[in-house]
Amino acid sequence: MFALPKPLLGLVLFGAAAFAGAAAPPEADALRDPAMVQAGRAKFVATCAYCHGSEGDAGKHRPFRDRIDWDPALIHQVIREGRQRGSNVMPAWKDSIPDEQIWQIVAYIKSLGGQPRPQP
Ligand code: HEC
Repeated sequence: MFALPKPLLGLVLFGAAAFAGAAAPPEADALRDPAMVQAGRAKFVATCAYCHGSEGDAGKHRPFRDRIDWDPALIHQVIREGRQRGSNVMPAWKDSIPDEQIWQIVAYIKSLGGQPRPQP
């Protein structure tokens, strides 16, 4: 293995990330954009609600509305890559949902944080 000078190595790694199709994370402000949240909600209700409920209250994890300090990058990561804990399987979506749309869903999930519980 030949040694690359550090700056070049950085370029190669950056190129690999771009090739993997990972879009740069949007700014925090963009994640609060109502249009983005709305688009994310539509996708979430259509694709995720049968496991998570339309507002993330169902499923085998803490309700999304209780996750006030949830890091958007972590939410994005678990949606992209999926996760498994015993028999609890969260599917990976990177092959079926474009990265931009995953960020819209992240915006919707973030918008739920701190929302009051729905009345039964
Ligand atoms: C087949 C059922 C199923 C579907 C469909 C599903 N999920 Fe999940 N999801 C799960 C399960 C089960 C877990 C908990 C995994 C674990 O225990 O680690 C989970 C976990 C998560 C988490 C992390 C929760 C936490 O507490 O860290 C997020 C975020 C999430 N899902 C988002 C989504 C989104 C967005 C979609 C739609 C694109 C989606 N899920 C579709 C079953 C599902």
